[in-house]
Amino acid sequence: MATERTLAILKPDCVRKELIGTVLARIQDAGFAVRALKMITLSKREAEGFYAVHEDKPFFDELTDFMSSGPCVPVVLEKENAIADFRTLIGATNPDEADEGTIRADFADSISTNIVHGSDSVGNGQKEASYFFAEHEIVANRAA
Ligand code: TYD
Repeated sequence: MATERTLAILKPDCVRKELIGTVLARIQDAGFAVRALKMITLSKREAEGFYAVHEDKPFFDELTDFMSSGPCVPVVLEKENAIADFRTLIGATNPDEADEGTIRADFADSISTNIVHGSDSVGNGQKEASYFFAEHEIVANRAA
């Protein structure tokens, strides 16, 4: 299986609940290597840019309000089969439908405040990582 990268975001609800360490431990225990990480507060416009694919959806305004409501933690993760394995680890978008033992089932309050984001394809993983990080900020890209 190929080594892949995915872009996770520990969302503002995760930060507000002081769950950064707990969720990151679950991620690392599942075999994901952290290649880049920062804490930032997105502007409304930055949140709209990140989720541009959803701009025609009825939940877009609520989603981008929430994503710009406080600090979040984007993280570049690397692992074999990272895209699919990370989606399995976090569970379904709606925590009521997420499998037992997944991060969203355990920590998320609702479909709109669901603790964590994960890229849905290798191409989007790359695009989303570059939304938050310059190439030289992703550790494994550095020469030394
Ligand atoms: P989506 O890309 O469908 O889900 P995922 O995050 O699992 O890839 O949707 C993006 C985010 O939009 C989702 O994490 C939470 C929000 N959202 C809602 O608030 N209501 C909804 O009905 C859906 C489908 C998503």
